Amino acid sequence: MRLTILQRLKSASDYISGQQLSRELQVSRAAINKHIMALRDMGYQIESITNRGYRLQDKQMINQLELELLVRAGGYPVTPVFYETIDSTNRAAKQMAQHGLIVALEQTHGKGRRGRDWISAKGQGLYVSLVLMPQLPPEVISAITQLAGLCVAKAIGPEARIKWPNDVYIKDKKASGILTELITQADLIEKLIIGIGVNFNPVNDMDTATSLAEQGKDLSMIEFLDQFLKLWFQAYPQFLEQPDLSYWLEEINQRSLLQNKSVQISGIDDVGTFLGIDAQGHAIIEGESRHMLSYGEISLKGWK
Ligand code: BTN
Repeated sequence: MRLTILQRLKSASDYISGQQLSRELQVSRAAINKHIMALRDMGYQIESITNRGYRLQDKQMINQLELELLVRAGGYPVTPVFYETIDSTNRAAKQMAQHGLIVALEQTHGKGRRGRDWISAKGQGLYVSLVLMPQLPPEVISAITQLAGLCVAKAIGPEARIKWPNDVYIKDKKASGILTELITQADLIEKLIIGIGVNFNPVNDMDTATSLAEQGKDLSMIEFLDQFLKLWFQAYPQFLEQPDLSYWLEEINQRSLLQNKSVQISGIDDVGTFLGIDAQGHAIIEGESRHMLSYGEISLKGWK
């Protein structure tokens, strides 16, 4: 009921009267009033004017109810779980026994790739982990990460670029990072965790990182999530049917920050041209010899 009232307030373009709500939902005015008060207690600013009714002021909140609305509206096959603060959404994802969507506004021990920390201060970013259980071999992890990168980049907007293997950039700075983790059993994935951190507001490391606000992007966290989930769950069934990137290869390579650029591979004493990725999500680099990388670190030559 509370969810339905919230949905109705969100979709209304003007005030909606208590009488109309009570008629539509077949409950008393007192019951409507009780739910409105509970929504206010949750932090929703709901204006009420005599003879006109209720109007929701801020339509961009993010909380458990909003996640439930989002998942219900999109029909996404995940159980949503919201935290104001958690140690790491990827860690929580490992405990989840069903397909899930874990979202937090702060992480006290956010995990980055290669054992790094992912600074996850409140108000700075959105921290998300998707939990899925595809019956696929673990080798698909590179392709899955690229597909997630494409969906994150598209959800952010046309200016966002994918930097192999797991970053999304705006201009020449990182706006989002992806940490894909697997739990496997008998050569099959038991649990796939796609962890995504997006910088929405200015970050400390201004030299190499950026945020959507800094880039003048007017995209709320909930709008981003909505877009991302839409894109991901459009693509994912197709990936399950044919678990490679053939269908998205052109799009991913067009969005690549590194495409045809001169790059340096960490740990390898060779500079080469980034030719793109293959259908398995491996990077192809042509230097003194041809390198096919399934993981690693690449930097643009001449970059800090
Ligand atoms: C990287 O660029 O190193 C990857 C960063 C991934 C961060 C996200 S935030 C949500 C999820 N939970 C974590 O602890 N890490 C990932």
